[in-house]
Amino acid sequence: MAYTVPKLKDFSQAALDKAVADLLTALQKESSSLGNDADRKTFRDRWLARKDGILTQINDVWLKTAPKDAKREVGQRVNKLKAEVEQRVEAALTSAPAARTDLPVDISLPGIRRPIGAEHPIIRTMNEIISVFRNLGYSVAEGPVIETDYYNFEALNFPPNHPARDTQDTLFLANQESKPPRERLLLRTHTSPVQIRTMEKLKPPLRILIPGKVHRNDPPDASHSPMFHQVEGLAVDTNITFGDLKGTLDHAMKALFGSDVKTSFRPSFFPFTEPSAEMFVSCFICGGSGKRGTGTKEEPCRPCKQTGWIEILGCGMVDPNVFDFVKHNGYDPENISGFAFGMGVDRMAMLKYGLDDLQLFFQGDVRFLEQFG
Ligand code: PHE
Repeated sequence: MAYTVPKLKDFSQAALDKAVADLLTALQKESSSLGNDADRKTFRDRWLARKDGILTQINDVWLKTAPKDAKREVGQRVNKLKAEVEQRVEAALTSAPAARTDLPVDISLPGIRRPIGAEHPIIRTMNEIISVFRNLGYSVAEGPVIETDYYNFEALNFPPNHPARDTQDTLFLANQESKPPRERLLLRTHTSPVQIRTMEKLKPPLRILIPGKVHRNDPPDASHSPMFHQVEGLAVDTNITFGDLKGTLDHAMKALFGSDVKTSFRPSFFPFTEPSAEMFVSCFICGGSGKRGTGTKEEPCRPCKQTGWIEILGCGMVDPNVFDFVKHNGYDPENISGFAFGMGVDRMAMLKYGLDDLQLFFQGDVRFLEQFG
């Protein structure tokens, strides 16, 4: 039954207390079942409307009919009650409408799909490289980004204080002086430490691919970043030769950049491979001519710096000194051999997508990233 303002027969304290309590209980009940805007308007008018709202009725029914000697008391009560009712009505109107529990669920409506974004172009390029090598029987291994001096350098045949360490622009963790040198922590400068970590765990033969983040102390610009990505490869077995290295990488480059590309190997140096090489692919932007366009529109090809060749990776035959560090797990350089390579993913992704600024990858600008969706 809806609440109506009762006539008061007696104006005692107790009777007033009860009348006020009844009214507030009714208000509480009505304000808890406001479903929609129409309900809210009806509710407001019922309590506050100037002409015939419950507050107005209180005035008429309680105050005006009160005997003289009770008027003062009733007046004060009514004023307090008005303020209270107004405040409660406003509060009920501004709070969220009560949830409707009586609506049936429409199970035929489509669910709410959360946009999942796009694969980052660097991760996508990494995955493409991985899938090419997976088809050749390689599995994936990973290792920590914060690495010890031992894995990043020493076990890769960089002796302590050897000048070859300088080429790596290493970022060292602070406050490591109390540790023995080989246990000191640094941000790995290449994915090669995972070669050692994997050979410690798995016996030969081995074919693994190692994707991951690496860090070097290079200030960021269009072609450098203190954090970048590499994919490393390692194959170890009996009788692995430099011919296997060349055949494998030549196949992989054709799979990644198109069957027309040629590969070229030039002598280089890494402490952990001997012999070592840098591998170039013929420029798939200008087709190896070093120029783009024809006639008056002809311009030098920037990605290959007009040489027709793009440097893609470092590689070589695993140095026997490296195997010596894991000899106890079956890697005796007298019986086995292997090759390794390491490529820069960011550079490859730039070439693949025709980008001229490496920083675009790391700025997190959705307008850039969503183009790869
Ligand atoms: N780790 C080397 C670098 O970052 C690349 C490399 C890997 C070279 C494996 C040879 C063999 O420059």
